[in-house]
Amino acid sequence: MKFGKFGAMILAAGLGTRMKSDLPKVLHPICGQPMLTHIIDQLLSLGVDKIVIIVSHGKEKVIQAISRDDKFVFIDQKKPLGTGHAVRQTEKIFKNFKGPVLILSGDAPAITKHTLQAILRAHQATKADLTCATADLPLSTPYGRIIRKNNKIQEIKEALDCSKNELQIPEMNLGLYCANPHTLFSALQKIKNKNAKKEYYLTDIVQLINFSQAFKLEDARETLGINNRVELAKMNQYMQHKINEKWMLRGVTLVDPNTTYIDASVKIGKDTVIEPGCHLKGKTWIGSGVMLKAGTIIEDSRVETQATVGPYARLRPKSHVKKGARVGNFVELKNTTLGENSKANHLTYLGDAVIGKNVNIGCGVITCNYDGNLTYQGKAKTVIGDDCFIGSDCQLIAPLRLQKGTFVASGSSVTNDAPKDSLVIARAKQITKKGYMKKMWVRAKKRKK
Ligand code: UD1
Ligand code: CA
Repeated sequence: MKFGKFGAMILAAGLGTRMKSDLPKVLHPICGQPMLTHIIDQLLSLGVDKIVIIVSHGKEKVIQAISRDDKFVFIDQKKPLGTGHAVRQTEKIFKNFKGPVLILSGDAPAITKHTLQAILRAHQATKADLTCATADLPLSTPYGRIIRKNNKIQEIKEALDCSKNELQIPEMNLGLYCANPHTLFSALQKIKNKNAKKEYYLTDIVQLINFSQAFKLEDARETLGINNRVELAKMNQYMQHKINEKWMLRGVTLVDPNTTYIDASVKIGKDTVIEPGCHLKGKTWIGSGVMLKAGTIIEDSRVETQATVGPYARLRPKSHVKKGARVGNFVELKNTTLGENSKANHLTYLGDAVIGKNVNIGCGVITCNYDGNLTYQGKAKTVIGDDCFIGSDCQLIAPLRLQKGTFVASGSSVTNDAPKDSLVIARAKQITKKGYMKKMWVRAKKRKK
């Protein structure tokens, strides 16, 4: 898969006005991560050597959101004067770069490494100086038109600058290119901003470069850009559909893929079944043969093989459901490990807890892990050993340690640690007054009359 050396630049300095947002457009999430991250991930998996991100509007937020190493350079295009002007800002970095450079738009997150690879290959095979990705699109699309002469790409004309005849050309510029740095930067020195938008158009270099070629894509959907929240939602759907299909083809059953939401960063083992309405978010790892029942939400957590979660369960970050364990309806876990074959089947909150193997957590059990920071900065721990039985409706007041084989009677409010094999009863003793109600009932009846 690895190529020779190649670089990439991502144009992300536009205002994104139509998003009507305080968040820079390229940081709006799609399938759980910023648009920009999707693009970067594809480039990294192709083995890119350098990525330059051109920022301007909201640059602090963009720089902060993208994890960096020495492969990343951010360039501030102080005044965005057009795509050509944007690319020119990278000259310092790419002028002497040995190898082609991909030019991408930060608001087109669906691009795949396969397409990028195909473009790089075509570029290298023909020894072109500039390769422009194009596709036939509906004539109403406001994209630049590809003007060909003797079948060769001659010019890209922005829709706003096109004549009526030129607007009838279906082949359009997708805003995705591969260029040789030397020719690219010498052509960029010559472009002007005499056009409808008074911008320096990157597309004007086509006329100035000897060997430009068009690389026509069959399916342009993955290059489509996002300009408003309607397009954001459509793109989210499109990318979710692709993620879901990938997992189904790898052996995961999605009972209803249309109502299953799996972030791009999630991993799932085969023979896992996911019922409708499940959301798997962030760095979540689901083993094989797991059953996720309807309406389950899992975030940054692990679920091991043969476990069952849901319906309507919520695993908040850092939860770990071990092999064969069961988490039932209306159960919430947070930063909690539920050991092998343990069960918490109904209406329970378990936070900051470590629970061993073969433990039964009854209905309505709550770990009370927060004291408003009175004593514990943050949350206190609850540790429950193997083979414990926690009866229904117990409060486990942390910090608390119940050793192996402890049995906690229903309705207990447990504050003290218990050694191995203890019976813990922590509730008011029952008082039964025999026959007491007889005269009370009679009195009540009289009052009603
Ligand atoms: C551009 C192309 C057009 C193509 C279309 C496909 C040009 C002149 N036109 O048009 O041929 O059909 O993409 O989507 O290139 N940006 C900067 N700095 C700037 C201006 C833009 O970083 O000064 C970024 C934007 O944030 C965006 C990308 O460049 O990510 C494209 O810019 P935009 O103004 O949206 O170009 P289009 O008019 O869509
Ligand atoms: Ca655009």
